[in-house]
Amino acid sequence: MSLLGGKKILIGVTAGIAAYKIPTLVRLCIKAGAEVSVIMTPKAKDFVTPLTLSTLSKRPVYSSFYEEEDENAMWNNHVELGLWADIMIIAPATANTLSKMASGACDNLLLATYLSAKCPVYFAPAMDLDMYIHPATHETFTKLQEFGNIMIPAGSGELASGLVGQGRLAEPEDIVQFIMKDILGKLPLKNQKVLITAGPTYEAIDPVRFIGNHSTGRMGIALAEIAANLGAQVALVLGPTAVSVTVHDRIEVIRVTTAQQMFEAVSKHYHTCDIGIAAAAVADYRPNAIATQKIKKTDGDFSIHLERTQDILKWMGTEKQYQFLVGFALETENEEENAKRKLVAKNLDLIVLNSLNDAGAGFKGQTNKVTLITKVQEQKAFELKSKKAVAQDIFETIATLRNTTVVS
Ligand code: CTP
Repeated sequence: MSLLGGKKILIGVTAGIAAYKIPTLVRLCIKAGAEVSVIMTPKAKDFVTPLTLSTLSKRPVYSSFYEEEDENAMWNNHVELGLWADIMIIAPATANTLSKMASGACDNLLLATYLSAKCPVYFAPAMDLDMYIHPATHETFTKLQEFGNIMIPAGSGELASGLVGQGRLAEPEDIVQFIMKDILGKLPLKNQKVLITAGPTYEAIDPVRFIGNHSTGRMGIALAEIAANLGAQVALVLGPTAVSVTVHDRIEVIRVTTAQQMFEAVSKHYHTCDIGIAAAAVADYRPNAIATQKIKKTDGDFSIHLERTQDILKWMGTEKQYQFLVGFALETENEEENAKRKLVAKNLDLIVLNSLNDAGAGFKGQTNKVTLITKVQEQKAFELKSKKAVAQDIFETIATLRNTTVVS
């Protein structure tokens, strides 16, 4: 998933020749996973057809408060459109529309929607060279940015007039890149590396059998997805599971099978990470030898000699420098006492306790019920929730403990 995945983008098209680039912008936004709606100033229709834009966006394109020629015309509610959008992009933004936006004028649907929008508004100017550098235009740019709007600077090159200089509408690819960079730059976990272990481990007995557990990896996968949505670069070390991870450009999935492989992957990424979360259900023991052929049954009993695997989280606690370290404790008895003991023994900053005595908790299902216990033994019990919601709670707690804020 990209940063625009699931976002509702409202593109406002004004009457500039560069409007011919907007179908490409619509397609790129949709390709990035966004839902797109387009509004136009009436004159913009001279440069690109509403039909093209409605076909690409798969939504009606509005340009006036109501269609005069339609006797069943309905009022196009600019407030609703403004509230619908997560992001508004005005492109191409002509000098005329920009100056009206700066002065609060409201003589068309696009301007009324702009004034009603509660979301971040980006504007991508497009005009001739001399207009672009005119002090009046610069005053408009400054004023709009003071209002909190975000300017996507025009590119340089040959202009429709034949003049060469700044004023070309930024290319659609650059507009999308600019917005994604801007969104990323404002996310609370930007520039942070998060290392997460998840899922079970399988320890082979022979070529067909293994020692494993019921972990699905869902909790760790949810943590990875939330961390990436908050801007982090995530290394997800994932044991064998059939549960899929949403493709995300900031999640690297490292597939492993055994505890030893999980440890090796963790040791590669741990020293450069800022937050380490061990959500995996790692096997504590493995057969001390793996039979090369399938073990045949005999009449008598059979036993396997098991040896300890590496305690990965304990190693992370020992190696800890600046990392914020989170562990899980899955308990069936003396829950809090055991979790607190693990918190200290593994040098953690936070432990997530889930008790198998609570219905819906643990590693099998889609939900979890956790108690978070901090280093200073403060604890907070949460209700039964989806694993995504639990992951959000965990990151909010991490943010509070690290003195940062998480905005979902
Ligand atoms: N853990 C780990 N490596 C192991 C065992 C556990 O990294 N070999 C991590 C788990 O990912 C979890 C925490 O340690 O974050 C606690 O795991 P848990 O199985 O509850 O406890 P153990 O330390 O294994 O202790 P016990 O089995 O005695 O409860």
